[in-house]
Amino acid sequence: YRPAASRSVHPFQTQERSNMKVSIVGCGFVGSTAAYALVMQGIGREIVLVDQQKERAIAEANDITHAVPFSHPLTVRAGDYADLADSRVVIIAAGVGQKPGENRLHLLQRNADVFRDCIPQIIQNAPDAILLVATNPVDIMTHVAGEIAMQMGVPISRVIGSGTTLDTARFRSLVGKQFGVDSRHVHAHVIGEHGDSEVLTWSLATIAGLSLTEFSEVRGIGLDAGQRASIDEQVRRAAYQIIEGKGATYYGIGSALARIVDVLLHDQRSILTVCSRIEDVAGVSDVTISMPHLLGGKGVLASIPLMLNDSEHQLLNASANIIRDAIDSMEM
Ligand code: LAC
Repeated sequence: YRPAASRSVHPFQTQERSNMKVSIVGCGFVGSTAAYALVMQGIGREIVLVDQQKERAIAEANDITHAVPFSHPLTVRAGDYADLADSRVVIIAAGVGQKPGENRLHLLQRNADVFRDCIPQIIQNAPDAILLVATNPVDIMTHVAGEIAMQMGVPISRVIGSGTTLDTARFRSLVGKQFGVDSRHVHAHVIGEHGDSEVLTWSLATIAGLSLTEFSEVRGIGLDAGQRASIDEQVRRAAYQIIEGKGATYYGIGSALARIVDVLLHDQRSILTVCSRIEDVAGVSDVTISMPHLLGGKGVLASIPLMLNDSEHQLLNASANIIRDAIDSMEM
């Protein structure tokens, strides 16, 4: 390699540092764990934490800042809504989480009230940000955020919810464990409501391009109806079991949020089962729901329809109707 006689720019000059600011509104277990996951994976360059309890935001920012020396150079600080300015992504984790005995839909009215207060302030201060909703019931809360955002001129493609991204990871992990395969090489999706009616798309799941039935035969490892039912139960009930034991879930969802932010910040064109507003899903119109979505630097680029079997299609229709009915039950 003969270096050019004269270069105006060093051949290895890095790209101009583009804006890598991520903000998080709501610094409870989920929001602060998402911030920690971003730091430990070196995602983003500036992280701002906002919470109605300012002292909580300050304490979380200070604590997480002490992890930075063990990770990648970035700044973590507490702020107010005005400090959201220029955020590329704003994670919204504000609101209450489900308690033992509650399901996610039980949180609806309380968290909708929280959103009516915080979403307008977020958009006023970060009008160009992608909104990433984590608050449950995440499908309906993303719909509420989208309604407000569209009224304020924000394109709906920039309003995303974590949806069933975590459920899909749980599904892939359990199938991978069954076959002794890295879950990153299991292609399977959970779609529909992030909740009791979610749909595991067994008929479309593949490993190395083979259906699970074919892979099972090739590897001589069983996957009978009982094992499938067990995996379904573990995915569907995962959060309830964890909440019974420790009161909340946050490591799984915090890591899922960090993954989604990474895709958005770096325009990775990944396909994740986040939730977004879709015109028609399984015959249900205008519903915010999880399907495989193509994600890039501008948010949702496309929603990918799946060739479901009849049973899965009926289950998705039922799940979409549960979300639609919950949306209709709210005074928006
Ligand atoms: C869970 C929460 C994020 O499934 O709903 O862990």
